[in-house]
Amino acid sequence: MSILITGGAGFIGSHTCVEMLNAGKDIVVIDNYANSSPKACERVKQITGKDFPYIECDIRDEEKLGEIFAGYDIEAVIHFAGLKAVGESCQKPVEYYDNNVGGTVTLLKAMKKAGVKTIIFSSSATVYGGTNPVPFKEDMPTGGTTNPYGTTKLFIEQILKDLCAADKDWSACLLRYFNPIGAHESGLIGEAPNGIPNNLMPYIAQVAVGKLKELRVFGNDYDTPDGTGVRDYIHVVDLAKGHVCACDRALKVKGCEIFNLGTGRGVSVLELIRAFENANGIKIPYVIAPRRPGDIDASFADVSKAREVLGWQTEKDAVDACRDTWNWQKNNPNGYDD
Ligand code: NAD
Ligand code: UFG
Repeated sequence: MSILITGGAGFIGSHTCVEMLNAGKDIVVIDNYANSSPKACERVKQITGKDFPYIECDIRDEEKLGEIFAGYDIEAVIHFAGLKAVGESCQKPVEYYDNNVGGTVTLLKAMKKAGVKTIIFSSSATVYGGTNPVPFKEDMPTGGTTNPYGTTKLFIEQILKDLCAADKDWSACLLRYFNPIGAHESGLIGEAPNGIPNNLMPYIAQVAVGKLKELRVFGNDYDTPDGTGVRDYIHVVDLAKGHVCACDRALKVKGCEIFNLGTGRGVSVLELIRAFENANGIKIPYVIAPRRPGDIDASFADVSKAREVLGWQTEKDAVDACRDTWNWQKNNPNGYDD
């Protein structure tokens, strides 16, 4: 039996493919390559020495999904496919609701038709909104998202909760990621953002490689130890391994379960810059700029539930992630483009 991985050519998806294959699982990848390249799947094969099918398919295409479920013996779905740019979601809300929420509904319909009732979903710490105190715990209230992207995550979580309440045969694992960074240590797969990166780590990496002049630190007057924003940066390989544990759990336990996937430690913007400089011996020029609208001062996870229930915890730290990001960036300055 195989695990279907939607969005498996993307940043977190490709790393999860590696860890699933390393754990001896069979996988089938689907992706429409809206924000990725099929080359990532070839690199996954190179890293693992294992073969798997990867198919161009949009999760909104119910007919094609039906063919894929009919053609492979799928027991569960790990669902990464989605658009994720916060700023773009404010410009194109309908596209985001269509792709993320509409796409998930279509996927669920196809799963139901095929009798596949186990799903692991990529949610986000963004669902905790701006008013909960850190560290965020799974049973805290959600809501208060500040952009359509975040709201798609909130809506999809609700759809999956409703589905599990209505049909006791379903199993849904909602994984709330904190801030994924880093790359596979081989340097063969990593994050390849289109255009100018929105997120801190890829921005730092592009400054380091000389594509961007300097980093703008968005605000140094937050209520944090050094005034800059604090986040829980999790190495993408640790995050990927969390999916192997979550998938095993979801195949055993029915109902809806929620897990934070983070390190449990908060790191400031200035600390991450220093970690990158120390790990790689490269100076990162930066300037202090105004706050970015919608940002909160601090976000980090309480990770006790994932540790106790999934038996999972992170093994790598921010320095490992900085080293691996740089190894990927310097060897692939244009991502998967030649
Ligand atoms: P990514 O953009 O690298 O990967 C998403 C993949 O989904 C891409 O390969 C893209 O081509 C594909 N895709 C998008 N729409 C599709 C569609 N309609 N049909 C088929 N494929 C489609 O992003 P990522 O960082 O790997 O994120 C994976 C998931 O995790 C996303 O759902 C994202 O919202 C979520 N997430 C990411 C972060 C983060 O900071 N990276 C944080 C929290 C949650
Ligand atoms: N930052 C800068 N300069 C930059 C980019 C970011 O100073 O050029 C700062 C931000 O202000 C913030 C921190 O770096 O304090 C992290 O910012 P990111 O954009 O890397 O990450 P966010 O925490 O804002 O958001 C990320 C994802 C969202 C997800 C959220 C919670 O982009 O999709 O984590 O999981 F919802």
